[in-house]
Amino acid sequence: MLRWAAAGCVGAPADLRAGGRCRGDSVRLVVEVGRFRWFHVRRSKQLVGTGGEAHDAGMNRDLIPTEFKALRIHPIRERTPGQVVGVEARLESVPFDELAEEEVVIRGRYSTINYKDALAATGAGKILRRLPLIGGIDVAGTVARSNDARFRVGDEVVVTGCGLGETHHGGYAEFVGVPGDWVVPLPASTSSRWAMSLGTAGFTAALAIHRLEHNGLRPGTGPVAVTGATGGVGSLAIDMLAGRGYEVVAITGKREADVYLKSLGASAVWHRDEMEMGQRPLESALWAAAIDNLGGDMLAWLTRSMKFWGGIASVGLTRSAELHTTVMPFILRGVNLLGINSMATPRPLRLSIWERLAAELRPRHLDKIVTREVSLEDLTAVFAEYVGNRVRGRVLVDLDVPGMPRG
Ligand SMILES: NC(=O)c1ccc[n+]([C@@H]2O[C@H](COP(=O)([O-])OP(=O)(O)OC[C@H]3O[C@@H](n4cnc5c(N)ncnc54)[C@H](OP(=O)(O)O)[C@@H]3O)[C@@H](O)[C@H]2O)c1
Repeated sequence: MLRWAAAGCVGAPADLRAGGRCRGDSVRLVVEVGRFRWFHVRRSKQLVGTGGEAHDAGMNRDLIPTEFKALRIHPIRERTPGQVVGVEARLESVPFDELAEEEVVIRGRYSTINYKDALAATGAGKILRRLPLIGGIDVAGTVARSNDARFRVGDEVVVTGCGLGETHHGGYAEFVGVPGDWVVPLPASTSSRWAMSLGTAGFTAALAIHRLEHNGLRPGTGPVAVTGATGGVGSLAIDMLAGRGYEVVAITGKREADVYLKSLGASAVWHRDEMEMGQRPLESALWAAAIDNLGGDMLAWLTRSMKFWGGIASVGLTRSAELHTTVMPFILRGVNLLGINSMATPRPLRLSIWERLAAELRPRHLDKIVTREVSLEDLTAVFAEYVGNRVRGRVLVDLDVPGMPRG
């Protein structure tokens, strides 16, 4: 590895420092003025000149601080070496250098909270594949630095799932580095705030509708049941389905939620604790389709109560990961059980779902669904509400810290 350094030029600020490092065929160029730092990594074939005179023909003039704030989740260890007994989420400063190898760095503007984020940050579910890790499975903002020709500094982008906040540092940060393949340009006439009002929840609801329609669902074929109705996926699914002209029945555990769910477009609201689910392999045929966020006995009952050729999008497991049913619904009523995986969605499908979200699936009631906005500082207090099922709709996370420069 070759290191080099250069003093400030004539007329440059007194505290300008410049330096670089060559490793293999890549070069890392750093220019620092006070607390701000311009930073770039490029393959050597893209560089012009050598040593102190080196400059990158495609260098981005983004203003980047030496460190940034992020909510990092740490393991709590027992005395026995290696034994992890829990996790702890802490807001801390992270050196920008940690993003050195990332293809695209996003100046985060908004993130959001999904059930999975709450499980990860509280340790209530085994979500994180490595520790410590910055949490947050979603982020939207502007490109601050890019080594990927598809994205330029200032582009507005969104990333959901893909491993963000699970295997890779996540979206609860002022700066987020990701592979270029994960980055989705924001559709026209949308914003970071809009994108995070949807986040993984909205993307998943749209993916579920997309798969159901791909399997034959059309407005007018019968009611569509949505379980976990007051949650993020549930609320957005109701809004999108009603907007498409479907008759939607919201199934909820919250007795006080009728007005809210009807205001999103549900034509009826069913309360879980009043439902008689029966035990027979096939119950009365009620649903043209269903989007299920619960799993367990609710999903089993849905399989038994579908109309002929009905489709169920299995999204979540807030009630249980178990499913006990028989083959009868599948072989006697032709029911389709469709798996929904928002994290590993192939890129072409991911891009087209975001386009649909901004067009014919665009939710019409985000003002009702987004109930709160919290800052990075206040984030940890909200996770327990998710795990305890005390949240309705969506919570946005404002990543903007006063005084921080924008990419
Ligand atoms: N497959 C995927 O790609 C994917 C993507 C996103 C989310 N998910 C999963 O989908 C589910 C919903 O996610 P979300 O972000 O919408 O979560 P959320 O905002 O926390 O909503 C979950 C909803 O489920 C119901 N619920 C919560 N705890 C429950 C319990 N113990 N028993 C029964 N119902 C309960 C509640 O609705 P009511 O009170 O109205 O019944 C709650 O509002 C989660 O399991 C999540 O992990 C999967």
